[in-house]
Amino acid sequence: MSQIKNEFDYVATIKKGTYWFPFTANRLVKANPEPRMIVSAKGAYYQTINGEALFDTLSGLWCTPLGHGHFKIAEALKKQAETLDYATTFQMINPETVRLSARIAQKAPDGLEHVFFTNSGSEAVDTALKLALGYHRLKGEGQRFRMIGRERGYHGVGFGGMSVGGIVPNRKMFASGMIPGVDHIQHTYNREKTAFTAGQPEWGIEQAQDLERLIGLHDASTIAAVIVEPVQGSTGVIVPPIGYLQKLREICTRHGILLIFDEVITGFGRLGENFAAQRFDVKPDMITFAKAITNGVIPMGGVLISDEIYNTFMSGPESAIEFAHGYTYSGHPMATAVAHVVLDIMEQENLVERVKALEPVLQEAVHDLRDLPGVLDIRNIGLSAAIDLLPVEGKPGAKGMAVFNEGLENGLLLRCVGDTIAFGPPFISTPAQIQEMMMKIRHILQKLG
Ligand SMILES: Cc1ncc(COP(=O)(O)O)c(C=O)c1O
Repeated sequence: MSQIKNEFDYVATIKKGTYWFPFTANRLVKANPEPRMIVSAKGAYYQTINGEALFDTLSGLWCTPLGHGHFKIAEALKKQAETLDYATTFQMINPETVRLSARIAQKAPDGLEHVFFTNSGSEAVDTALKLALGYHRLKGEGQRFRMIGRERGYHGVGFGGMSVGGIVPNRKMFASGMIPGVDHIQHTYNREKTAFTAGQPEWGIEQAQDLERLIGLHDASTIAAVIVEPVQGSTGVIVPPIGYLQKLREICTRHGILLIFDEVITGFGRLGENFAAQRFDVKPDMITFAKAITNGVIPMGGVLISDEIYNTFMSGPESAIEFAHGYTYSGHPMATAVAHVVLDIMEQENLVERVKALEPVLQEAVHDLRDLPGVLDIRNIGLSAAIDLLPVEGKPGAKGMAVFNEGLENGLLLRCVGDTIAFGPPFISTPAQIQEMMMKIRHILQKLG
């Protein structure tokens, strides 16, 4: 608690609304802020201002797989701040960022060997969409301007990502700002057919045919790219049906449409492989990443790009900028330094392998809750899972909020989206911690009835 300045009235400032919380029911938090104040974190636990330890059930927002307070990361940050705190990467070279691009490319599927750095997942998505437009234009197919997203998809909050996203509350307020020409294929969730499936559902490959419907409607010659999360994370861990992503790939290839995998959550080990593309054995034309690459310590994101797209851009006069796009902080030296340490730790501690070993532990523990009243579905893959709860009649989200509050009372920082609880514990979690997390969920759900 020493981190807190005692003379400052945090509660009064929160109640005044000076600080506007992102993606938050602000008025609800303002009514009772104290239990939510986090002052420190170590390993898989946060500590609240009241001295409670909270297990980090979602690795931050899917971004802290190594846990918190890693001394090697702290050391690297200090050293980097003293050596090179910032340098532009416009026309200049930060050698360590170059080395980082090689390390990331080496982990990616073959042929995705070019990396463009951003500072967030949202920026990575918008960058990938712009690359898709530019690619087709350079190929003489500038009429390919349509982007196809998927219902229930989340691709961040930029205008591009919001437009291809498929979560209604994130879209409706900004409907007039949607980029033109975007359409959505159906999502793959069907509770009747797939409830309580462990891993990939057998039902649902046919949902990929919906892309053919949109191609029939718009004509392939107008479509630039399809963007999907291989596993839909934010909308509650919707696992792709067996064969579905392969089918999307096949249709895109047949029609000259680029396929983008948004791996902001799944990138760097969450599914027990470096990328979901490897887990599902499907090679997209671009992969967006963010979050885990810096363990959430400092923002960084990026896009992995195919040779074909990269080589297409490397044309025209050599003095001209090939892709008029970039961020002041693209390839920031501080983020680069952290990313190197994160990859070092992942490699030295075999953390991606560890995810593979933990997957059955989480699977067994979460599916063990299926007998509880009010549990409508349980899904899981890699080190991620979700539980759908029966909503309180007429009050969508109220059950989720009650579970979240109970979590705080029971040593869990939970992520409830509506009436779904999502889990993505840190890769450093022990089997006992995962089992304890689910025992606590059992207790909470029993208590709430
Ligand atoms: C799949 C996906 N894409 C994009 C984003 C946006 O990332 P950011 O919040 O870093 O902008 C997220 C964030 O959760 C995500 O899950």
